[in-house]
Amino acid sequence: MAVKKGLFKTSVGRKNLMAVTGLFIIFFLIIHLVGNLILVIPSTFFPIEFWGDVENTHDMYNAYSHFLVHFWPVTFVAWILYAAIIIHVIDALLITLQNRKSSGEKYQVTNNSTSIWYSRNMGVLGTVIGVFIVLHMAQFWLPYKVLKTEHDLYDLVLSTFKVWWFVLIYEIGIIALGFHLIHGIESAHRSLGIYPKKAMRILKYIALYFSLIMAILYAIIPIILYFK
Ligand code: HEM
Repeated sequence: MAVKKGLFKTSVGRKNLMAVTGLFIIFFLIIHLVGNLILVIPSTFFPIEFWGDVENTHDMYNAYSHFLVHFWPVTFVAWILYAAIIIHVIDALLITLQNRKSSGEKYQVTNNSTSIWYSRNMGVLGTVIGVFIVLHMAQFWLPYKVLKTEHDLYDLVLSTFKVWWFVLIYEIGIIALGFHLIHGIESAHRSLGIYPKKAMRILKYIALYFSLIMAILYAIIPIILYFK
C-alpha cells in the first residue's frame, strides 16, 4: 500500500512511473516500426515461406496485421500498451500541475535556462504527439481492430498516405516524437537512477542517435507510400 501510494503521490514515484511507461512505449514503437517497414521494404527481402500463402507486400502486411489481432499474447501486450499510454499522459498532467503549483511557473522538465528547447517543451511535444495518436488510432486502429469495418489494412494505409496533408500531419507528429524521445530516453534513465554518472554521458548520445534513426525510419514510410 505504501509503495502504491508512493508511486502515484510523490514526485519521485510519479517520475519513475513516467519513466517506466515511457520506456515500455518505446519498446512498442520499435516493434511497431519493424512491422510497418514491411510497407516499404521489397517483399523479396523477407523469407516469404515464413508467412505462408503470401506473394507480395500487400499480402504480407495484411498477414502481419491479422497476426496482431488474432494472436492473444499480442492482444494482451496491446492492453498493457493502452494502459501505459494513459498512465504516461495522466502522470505528465499531474507533474505539470504540481510544478505550476509549487513554483508558480510553467512546467519545466529542467530549470536550467540554458537547456535545449525540446527539453523545456516536453509538454508541448507530448500534446502534439497525443493529438497525432488520437487521429492515427481513429484512422487505422478503430476501423480495423475495434469496429472491424475495414479488413484490408494495406489498402487503408496506402490510400491514407495518398493524401498529401495526411502525410504532412504524420511528418509533424513524427518530428515531435523524435524530439520528445531524445529528452525522454535520457530523462527516464536519469529518473530511474540505474547508471553511474559516466554512463549518463554516453546515454545522451545513444538517446540522440536512437531517436534520430527512429524518426527518420518512421518519417520515410508515409513519404515513400505517397509516391508509390
Ligand atoms: C508512419 C508510420 C506508421 C504507420 C504506417 C502506422 C500504422 C498503424 C496501423 C496500420 C495501426 C493499426 C493496426 C495495429 O494495431 O497495428 C496502428 C496502430 C497504432 N499505432 Fe501506428 N503507424 C505508424 C506510426 C505510429 C507512430 C509514430 C505512433 C506513436 C507515436 C503510432 C502508434 C500507434 C498505436 C499506439 C497503435 C495502436 C496499437 C495496438 O492496438 O496494438 N504509430 N499503426
